[in-house]
Amino acid sequence: MRAIYPGSFDPITYGHIDIIKRASKVFDDFTVVLMNNLRKKPLFSVEERLYMIKESLKGMNVNVDIHEGLLVQYVEQNNVKIAIRGLRAVGDFEYEFEMALANREMCPSLEMIYFMTDIKYLFLSSSMVKEIAQFGGELKEWVPPVVEKKLREKFQKL
Ligand code: COA
Repeated sequence: MRAIYPGSFDPITYGHIDIIKRASKVFDDFTVVLMNNLRKKPLFSVEERLYMIKESLKGMNVNVDIHEGLLVQYVEQNNVKIAIRGLRAVGDFEYEFEMALANREMCPSLEMIYFMTDIKYLFLSSSMVKEIAQFGGELKEWVPPVVEKKLREKFQKL
């Protein structure tokens, strides 16, 4: 069965990767799709985020794609029926619920499936790792080495 995992991945973290590992065992054709979240101003360019995703997922049975428009446009163009998202603490629910309803309104054939985060990553977010990196904190537990390196480089340049 086929599914996609859309997200802004700015940057990809072990929280995302935990979801990807579990979801790719359930869906034999699984694609991580890098998209833009217009509510956020990304730290990394699309190219940088794509590079970090590809490097972090090397050796896994997962496809990686990129899309600039609406999620529902990607879904329609690629005949996708299922999109998955990760859910952390209660805070994610309202946002995900709103997004799922808006997407369903535009594309009724799309089903969203949610994976509960591992408890270790309950409070992890891309914003958190950017903040830790900005102040030179420890990142090993939260992001793969390639992401840590890119974060260090980015904050040295800023
Ligand atoms: N463990 C730890 N952290 C997790 C996590 C997990 N299991 N799952 C998500 N997160 C964190 C991420 O690190 C990220 O943190 P941040 O808010 O600090 O950036 C946040 O939760 C969610 O980000 P992510 O999953 O990377 O993507 P997003 O929520 O920014 O992506 C899109 C949203 C891209 C899917 C959405 O904006 C979209 O569909 N865009 C296309 C345009 C569109 O169709 N818009 C209309 C939508 S109705």
